[in-house]
Amino acid sequence: MSAFQLRRLEARDAERYRALRLDGLLRHPEAFGASHEDEAKQPPEWFANRLAMAAIFGGFDAAGTLVGVAGLSIPNAIKSKHKGILWGMYVVEAARASGLARRLVEAVIDEARGKVEQLQLTVVASNAPALRLYSKLGFVGYGLEKRALCVDGQYFDETLMALSLD
Ligand SMILES: CC(C)(COP(=O)(O)OP(=O)(O)OC[C@H]1O[C@@H](n2cnc3c(N)ncnc32)[C@H](O)[C@@H]1OP(=O)(O)O)[C@@H](O)C(=O)NCCC(=O)NCCS
Repeated sequence: MSAFQLRRLEARDAERYRALRLDGLLRHPEAFGASHEDEAKQPPEWFANRLAMAAIFGGFDAAGTLVGVAGLSIPNAIKSKHKGILWGMYVVEAARASGLARRLVEAVIDEARGKVEQLQLTVVASNAPALRLYSKLGFVGYGLEKRALCVDGQYFDETLMALSLD
């Protein structure tokens, strides 16, 4: 049996979600569109609101510590609500290479099925583990945005990926 328990995070998880999210943003500034600087200013209520607006799945280790997250957002806009976005994927180093990352992406895919026609994500083109993870789960690259992120003066290209759920 897997050492990790998965469930959708709720408002009561806002503090621990905030801590894990900020940890990811701090350790991997190039992996996320958002920045630690911006989100560290936000109070727990802001994160609780985010948990209400998006379906964010969390993985807990045997001690009950939140060690991984992945989110699904579905736009409200009529013309784009058929496309879901997988975002905010992060697993702490100690829980990597364990299958947890895969289970989190699978939870997002399961949640998206029946609600949207396709899932999209962006990933920094040099992020080999993430690219490999998404590819193994069926995501296909459909574009490259040059200089998508600028982190302290350094530019990163992003690969655009999609998974058809039809
Ligand atoms: C992306 C992330 C969630 C992946 O989780 P993980 O536990 O490292 O995933 P895995 O160990 O299952 O690795 C995924 C695949 O990449 C491979 N991989 C790992 N490191 C690699 C490397 N340096 N180069 C190439 N492939 C690599 C693994 O072998 C695995 O493939 P396999 O299943 O065929 O063996 C995790 O690395 C992470 O949180 N990174 C920091 C934040 C981040 O990059 N988020 C993604 C934003 S899009």
